[in-house]
Amino acid sequence: MGLRSKFRQYQLHRRLPMEKYIPTNKRKPEKMLDVVTAWAGLELIVEDILERFNIGRDSCIEFGVEFGYSSVVFSNYFKKVTGVDIFIGDEHTDFKGDHYDKTKASLAEYKNIELIKSDYRDWIKEDQKQYDFAHVDIVHNYKETYECGLWASQHSSCTIFHDTESFPEVRRAVIDIAKATGKRVYNYPYHNGLGIIV
Ligand SMILES: C[S@@+](CC[C@H](N)C(=O)[O-])C[C@H]1O[C@@H](n2cnc3c(N)ncnc32)[C@H](O)[C@@H]1O
Repeated sequence: MGLRSKFRQYQLHRRLPMEKYIPTNKRKPEKMLDVVTAWAGLELIVEDILERFNIGRDSCIEFGVEFGYSSVVFSNYFKKVTGVDIFIGDEHTDFKGDHYDKTKASLAEYKNIELIKSDYRDWIKEDQKQYDFAHVDIVHNYKETYECGLWASQHSSCTIFHDTESFPEVRRAVIDIAKATGKRVYNYPYHNGLGIIV
């Protein structure tokens, strides 16, 4: 990290402090997808998080699948992974054109992943279920992260959020969701940052 980025991170941590998550046992999941993604590296701490907070292994819901890197990571640990995405991209990850068919084909062998082409707004209006685990990695604005993440935190035992270091608005939303739900919040400050609400 260059000096300028280090200073920016220092300022962000002062303005929006979060307790640091320190993994004790990093492990690489068995099944992984070979795609380029800003999520890479975080697969090493997922099992550590599940063990630390004693999270069940039945169900996981993910908002923001894109090409499926994080979905495949989660498929190692849960009986069922539900992946919700509009599959066209957004202003931050880029508008990539419709990649639902491409993602579906490359995830076909992972039988415990179900992909749903939907906006999170439509999904959360209908779904009343409780999940063991949730992941929020959609467009990185405050409003969307807060709205989707609040629902996810209220419908799961543990919710993780990507990009708490690279997008201050995501970090702010995560802190506000923890306040609103009364849950604990941690941050793992590597690989663009992972917020953890439990
Ligand atoms: C950063 S990518 C997800 C990366 C993925 N988690 C990985 O492991 O590589 C963000 C995704 O969020 C999706 N997205 C953006 N806004 C959304 C919304 N309102 N509802 C559902 N998905 C959305 C985009 O289509 C994009 O695929």
